[in-house]
Amino acid sequence: MTRVVLYTGKGGVGKTTLSAAAAVAAAERGRRTLVMSTDPAHSLGDVLAVEVTPGSPQRLADRLWVEHIDARQLLERSWGAVQDYLSGVLSSAGVDSVSAEELTVLPGAEEVLSLLEVRDKVRTGDYDLVILDCAPTAETLRLLALPEALDWYMRRIWPFERRVVSALRAPLSKAARMPMPDSGVLDAVERLHHDLGQVREVLTSDSASVRLVLTPDSVVLAEARRTLTSLSLYGYRVDGALANRVFPAGRDRWRAGWVKAQQERLRSARDDLDPVPVLTVPYLPAEPVGLADLAALAEDVYPQGDPLALPPVEPPLGLERLGDQIVLVLRLPLAVKGDVDLAERGNELIVTVGSYRRVLALPGALQRYRIAGAGLADGVMRVRFLPRDGGRRS
Ligand SMILES: Nc1ncnc2c1ncn2[C@@H]1O[C@H](COP(=O)(O)OP(=O)(O)OP(=O)(O)O)[C@@H](O)[C@H]1O
Ligand SMILES: [Mg+2]
Repeated sequence: MTRVVLYTGKGGVGKTTLSAAAAVAAAERGRRTLVMSTDPAHSLGDVLAVEVTPGSPQRLADRLWVEHIDARQLLERSWGAVQDYLSGVLSSAGVDSVSAEELTVLPGAEEVLSLLEVRDKVRTGDYDLVILDCAPTAETLRLLALPEALDWYMRRIWPFERRVVSALRAPLSKAARMPMPDSGVLDAVERLHHDLGQVREVLTSDSASVRLVLTPDSVVLAEARRTLTSLSLYGYRVDGALANRVFPAGRDRWRAGWVKAQQERLRSARDDLDPVPVLTVPYLPAEPVGLADLAALAEDVYPQGDPLALPPVEPPLGLERLGDQIVLVLRLPLAVKGDVDLAERGNELIVTVGSYRRVLALPGALQRYRIAGAGLADGVMRVRFLPRDGGRRS
């Protein structure tokens, strides 16, 4: 199985540099490694000191490939039909074609499609490791939740809408002079939904993990904490945090001041993110660029210099049996009671943490059970279920 590692974090903290460093080190340790990025600024190429043409993997060294995902092209391929349809609707409503084109750009769609590219690369079996240099945190998070959100929509509303739409297409188009979506559009949406479900499967499997890149600054750390909670909410495993740009000790007052402040923040990072290991990356005297610099960096950061040496982590969601009860356990590190809300709707459990929400379809095993109680302690939510018939079976 191909291992997948995602590096995410706030803007400018070092995601691209650390993704590239991990790739170089993994390839040197004998793994066929592909490092990918969607950044239109092409900084992955800059960090590796190579010219990268977007669209396909490019070989850099033994067992090492790099790819700049050409998100525009992917967008055209899988979303083109939908976009054309939407422009049609807008222009029939009197919107000029240039504005129509701008309005049909889905925010975040390029990132989502780049995740499809990750799934495709995993499927080829050509690589032992695929590393993705992700967009800054908030964006990525929302996107990672998308397959599931879409899943809910597709199960509930879509089949109904699709029926209505096909029944109404001809009469409505005529009456409203507005193009109705044809089957190409409907198919494109269904295909995307199916694809995203598969992406989610790849990214939440036990061969995938996410790493939080941060710097020892209070604002960055606060965001990393929130990210850890919400990644767990959505079922992604975080197996490490990398604290980048840590000042080495020195004598002058300016440096001593920073070193002290950073050490304090690193201590709180370790306390807060525990049990996620926090690795430190020194602030180097120059920008790490090129294979040699990146290899040296990884050597310094990971245990035995191996980016895959971090211990595997449990999935955030699990079921435990307790007598005749079943307990659904959802790890929500750092979440506090006031932030978490739980609701039951049919066979679904809706968990809200701050501004993030997950609709969990209850596993088959729980469908004949009812919620008997729920609690949150030490960053773990436990929902207790009892059999509906009180445990007696005739
Ligand atoms: N440990 C380090 N020591 C010195 N310079 C570093 C270190 N880590 C990163 N840098 C430099 O910091 C800058 C930002 O790093 P990088 O591009 O990897 O961040 P990023 O998180 O990918 O940014 P963006 O959010 O813009 O994609 C680069 O110039 C990089 O060379
Ligand atoms: Mg970057």
